[in-house]
Amino acid sequence: MPPAPAPAKPPMPEARGVAVDGWMLWECDEAGSTNDLASVLPPWTAVRARLQTAGRGRHQRPWVSDPGGLWMSAVVPTGPPEQGWAALPLAAGLAVCETLAGFGARPLRLRWPNDVMSGRRKLAGLLVDKFHSGDAVVGIGMNVTNHPEAGDPSLAGTVIRLAELVSPPPGLDVLAAALLRGLRTVVDTMHAGGFASLVDRVNAAWSTGHALEIEAGGARSGGIFLGVDGCGRLRVRRPDGTISEMAAHEVVRVRELE
Ligand code: BTN
Repeated sequence: MPPAPAPAKPPMPEARGVAVDGWMLWECDEAGSTNDLASVLPPWTAVRARLQTAGRGRHQRPWVSDPGGLWMSAVVPTGPPEQGWAALPLAAGLAVCETLAGFGARPLRLRWPNDVMSGRRKLAGLLVDKFHSGDAVVGIGMNVTNHPEAGDPSLAGTVIRLAELVSPPPGLDVLAAALLRGLRTVVDTMHAGGFASLVDRVNAAWSTGHALEIEAGGARSGGIFLGVDGCGRLRVRRPDGTISEMAAHEVVRVRELE
């Protein structure tokens, strides 16, 4: 594994830098969104905040980021989308899911494209932003000991904290280091063998067979979730028995119906 990049300029003046297994991690007390802070950082650099005041989720949703959760963004080097890098969000979700399983968290599953779920409750979400060609920012938000439903009561019953699955939960610094290690390993695997070399592990992490409502190409349709193919395309069985494959960029939204 190559060494961590030399300490560069911190993303904010008061950030503290620590070297973590091939990464440089900047830690700060408060950020708007760590993904935005990471947009100016070089590859293999990450930033973690104790809280976010403008955390962003997928589909431009706000993301409650209260103290006690893990709010971290990591910059990874990528290749062009036509070489399979469009599947990076799936690979990053796998890294998070497998890292948490390593701490004994169960039951866990991935939900398309990269939510980490325990049953029907969401433990962690990922937001992958592409600010420049050649790298991507992987933002990881995870409920650990925090109470997101206190900030947004509509989340009650839909979220879960790591502390409910692992007692006591790992400290945030230990968790952050393990996640960075896991992410580095899957990204190195993608560089060596493409997404195809991860697809079996990704498919083992879903629970397939859920009925889905899929919004794609301006229309809504139904199907049974079958996992992804070697290019990271969503596979569904249609009511007429045919199988469709859709690239992630074609799929606007997916809702699990059961
Ligand atoms: C989602 O499931 O909608 C994605 C949530 C991603 C949240 C994380 S927290 C760290 C990083 N900074 C952000 O503003 N968002 C991501």
